[in-house]
Amino acid sequence: MRKKVTVVGAGNVGATVAHRLADKQLADIVLIDILEGIPQGKGLDLLESGPIEGYDVKIKGTNDYKDTAGSDLVVMTAGFPRKPGMSRDDLLKANFDVVKSTIEQVAKHSPDCILIVVTNPLDAMAQTAFKVSGFPKHRVIGMAGVLDTARYRTFIAEALNVSVKDIQGLVLGGHGDTMVPVPSYTTVAGIPIAQLMPKEQLDKIIARTAKGGGEIVNLLKTGSAYYAPSAAVAEMVDAIFNDRKKVLPCAAYLEGEYGIRGLFVGVPCKLGARGIEEIIQIKLTAEEQAALEKSAAAVKELVEIIGV
Ligand code: APR
Repeated sequence: MRKKVTVVGAGNVGATVAHRLADKQLADIVLIDILEGIPQGKGLDLLESGPIEGYDVKIKGTNDYKDTAGSDLVVMTAGFPRKPGMSRDDLLKANFDVVKSTIEQVAKHSPDCILIVVTNPLDAMAQTAFKVSGFPKHRVIGMAGVLDTARYRTFIAEALNVSVKDIQGLVLGGHGDTMVPVPSYTTVAGIPIAQLMPKEQLDKIIARTAKGGGEIVNLLKTGSAYYAPSAAVAEMVDAIFNDRKKVLPCAAYLEGEYGIRGLFVGVPCKLGARGIEEIIQIKLTAEEQAALEKSAAAVKELVEIIGV
């Protein structure tokens, strides 16, 4: 039987996630939103692409959580996107209310699902979903690292004029301006980046990566990124449903790993059928560890404001 995915929020990110999951035939999809007509219209439009694209997955738009019942995986995208001049953190309180109320419904109707949280500020919203759902930590995953790493890899590939597929990189920490790209684990077809690029150039790429979301917001003016975020979600869903044991940077609930306790922070995770099957601990330089702790402290500040 085909898997079932619910996408909460039928806006830019949610609808594009549904589109990518359908194209990859990963699951039947329920698209749910508070707005009436939007999820139904987008769901039907996607369903009607099936004969052309050649997929048989079912896609349904709804406003009723009963339709989401028994989902294997739920992608949380409901909330408000960033506008120019707004930091992800300005979104905190508004999106907290949205995530809290929707996760209560999700957990009630799909008590065994794996949750992938996309709503920003990401780490604090993942923590909200974890606390409100009461799910075990391996079933609550924040999507940030795959996206941030994709931006990092894009910029490096562009600078060196090599295939994006050759770039391996890690971006750790919170999904915000304090994120931590890790140069010591960045390679081009196995070659350490330091051999191919001067430090100053890499530093510029790291700075651009940390502000990668804001760069798109400033260009779009009316919202935030959705093509790359939805591609990141689709990669994570594929890793889980196909039990690929793929090592991807995700926001995970840490209980002492990297010296951090009781917080969602981006770290390398093994994703498989159970969700986060392992948090992989890598050696960091003193500078990288300090940057990770600073990033965790920024997440902690937000979490304390909303009290989760
Ligand atoms: N229940 C269900 N849906 C809701 C609720 C709610 N309580 N509140 C808002 N929504 C819906 C909105 O109606 C809208 O359709 O969430 C959707 C958000 O869509 P967009 O405004 O297009 O925002 P999007 O670009 O998709 O970003 C969503 O993902 O990347 C993050 O920072 C981004 O937090 C933001 C989220």
